[in-house]
Amino acid sequence: MTRLSHIAAGVALLAATTLSGIARADNQDVIDYRQHIMKTLGEQSQSLAMVMQGKAPAENVAMHAQILAVTAATVEAAFKEKVAGGESKPDVWAKWDDFSKRAKELSANMADLAKTAQAGGVDAVKPKLQAALTCRGCHETYREQKK
Ligand code: HEC
Repeated sequence: MTRLSHIAAGVALLAATTLSGIARADNQDVIDYRQHIMKTLGEQSQSLAMVMQGKAPAENVAMHAQILAVTAATVEAAFKEKVAGGESKPDVWAKWDDFSKRAKELSANMADLAKTAQAGGVDAVKPKLQAALTCRGCHETYREQKK
């Protein structure tokens, strides 16, 4: 097959599986997905930290905050399906009200931070950053630390 017809076949397959509902997430998919999202939060927090320390371009501050905001907005749905495993403690689902509240809080904090970064840049973000990054509190309660 030519490259183009490969792509066309791929798109057709994707459309077919989507429409007929053949594509279903198995448990490993559910775990992989939420870990991808967490890794993105990790990478972007570290990138933002580098910007804050003057080790990376200040002009990117609002973009990193925005990526954190949109990524944080995907956390709640990513953890909703109860699939034990990965580094998630069973309490994620046993105490779902609290977990989802924390996910919403992170999302709101990051949205606020993105606005702050857009309006005021690095100097405006500095005093807000630590309180906005509620990562550790949630990890202490809900993540099995394998280190
Ligand atoms: C609402 C709770 C919660 C918040 C808030 C949260 N996390 Fe997590 N995080 C988890 C849980 C639970 C896991 C374990 C996921 C799994 O493996 O099943 C995790 C895993 C991770 C991992 C490991 C991913 C991997 O498998 O490699 C990283 C990195 C991470 N989080 C970064 C962050 C950062 C950075 C923030 C803040 C910007 C954050 N998290 C905020 C709950 C949270």
